[in-house]
Amino acid sequence: MKLPPPFKLRMTEFLGPELDQFIEALSSESPVSIRINQYKYPFDIAFKSIPWTQTGYYLPARPLFTADPLLHGGGYYVQEASSMFLEQAILQALPEREGLNVLDLCAAPGGKSTHLASLFSNGLLVSNEVIKSRVTILAENIQKWGTGNVVVTNNDPKDFKEVKSFFDCIVVDAPCSGEGMFRKNQNAIGEWSEENVQLCAQRQKRILADIWPALKPGGILVYSTCTYSLEENEHNLAWVCDQYDAENVKLNLNPDWCVKETEYSKCIGYRFYPHKAEGEGFFLAVVRKKGGTQNEFKFPKKRGKTTLIPMDDKSGMFNEILNNFDQWKLYAKGEEVMAFPALKTREIEYLFDALDVNYAGVSIGQVTKKELRPDHALALFIGLNDKYFPEISVTKEDALKFLRKDDLVFSNAQDGWNRILYNGLGLGWVKKVGHRFNNYYPKEWRIRLAMDKLQ
Ligand SMILES: C[S@@+](CC[C@H](N)C(=O)[O-])C[C@H]1O[C@@H](n2cnc3c(N)ncnc32)[C@H](O)[C@@H]1O
Repeated sequence: MKLPPPFKLRMTEFLGPELDQFIEALSSESPVSIRINQYKYPFDIAFKSIPWTQTGYYLPARPLFTADPLLHGGGYYVQEASSMFLEQAILQALPEREGLNVLDLCAAPGGKSTHLASLFSNGLLVSNEVIKSRVTILAENIQKWGTGNVVVTNNDPKDFKEVKSFFDCIVVDAPCSGEGMFRKNQNAIGEWSEENVQLCAQRQKRILADIWPALKPGGILVYSTCTYSLEENEHNLAWVCDQYDAENVKLNLNPDWCVKETEYSKCIGYRFYPHKAEGEGFFLAVVRKKGGTQNEFKFPKKRGKTTLIPMDDKSGMFNEILNNFDQWKLYAKGEEVMAFPALKTREIEYLFDALDVNYAGVSIGQVTKKELRPDHALALFIGLNDKYFPEISVTKEDALKFLRKDDLVFSNAQDGWNRILYNGLGLGWVKKVGHRFNNYYPKEWRIRLAMDKLQ
């Protein structure tokens, strides 16, 4: 692997005699890892576990993930192992996580957000992505994960100045120069330059400055990058502690993890190097906003920007569709019905007013004069009462045909809406009308590979 000489020089300063091992590791295969969805994954797991998370595993080889229906059903997420260290930051810095408001500011495609959605299953996650074209894949991955406790937004970090002292936890997985991804993405090597490192570091400072007011006093900020440069990591961490009322939070490390603790200007951060820990290059640090743990956030007056209307379940149908119905609150937007976690409705209504919301809670479907037309997200939702809609369990081959949006015929389907299941995981809907079966898998999500490439 040909590395830019100034980058090599920088790494020599960090690593000294370990530089050769680092370069050798960059020429080896990247580990392949997944994080499973504990509410969905149907099998016992025999893979080697990733030691800093409860739900991450190394796979012995890279399968063709597209050809696994479990991935499309949100059974797991393919994620680089070092990034899952986020779990340690959350568990150690926030032992009480019930009912908290969390922001994942730079969220697409959704690796850390799906992790956070599980770690804060009784809270509310705002999963934000500034780049519009990337929000689509983020919302798709959130719907597949199916936890229902997430609001997906499309806002610039500076828009969060409005949402002052709202969040108990903010994760900034910042856009960076990507040095830690050189092994996985060789294009990043060609794009590397000293100037870009400086530009990234300045942009990260701007992002941190924009988002700091949105953090509650007593709340934590997790800052991470997938790069090694001091400017983008320790320098920015020290800058936050210096600039704001912030104290650095130290995490306990198990020496077997081979994570490197670094100290700069009395601030501690954590580095992953590929010749030490089994994962890609990564940096993470945690700070807490000083000023006590009191909730300073006050809901402002409604601006009425949103057209959301709280709705009763007059017919009792939704009570039957959702498990633990009392934990959800229904809202209508035109013919669309959605459900939000009942304990967070005020927060979600406020977010609709203050931000650009792309998706929230769980979309249940469209109520027309004739019927409820279930939303695709409902088929993937972990809170769906699986007795409500008839189900069709399919083989892997039929699951893949369904995910390709091919025409299918089922001998065991009932008239109307049927939920397609693969190993117990909902994949989507087919509607039987007479002898015809309409495949409602979303066109934009369908698998585009030919069937013979998938088997
Ligand atoms: C490292 S990636 C995030 C990966 C994501 N957290 C995950 O785990 O899947 C950084 C994200 O920041 C977004 N981004 C780019 N410029 C930004 C900016 N100026 N402010 C905030 N986010 C930005 C990128 O679009 C990208 O989605």
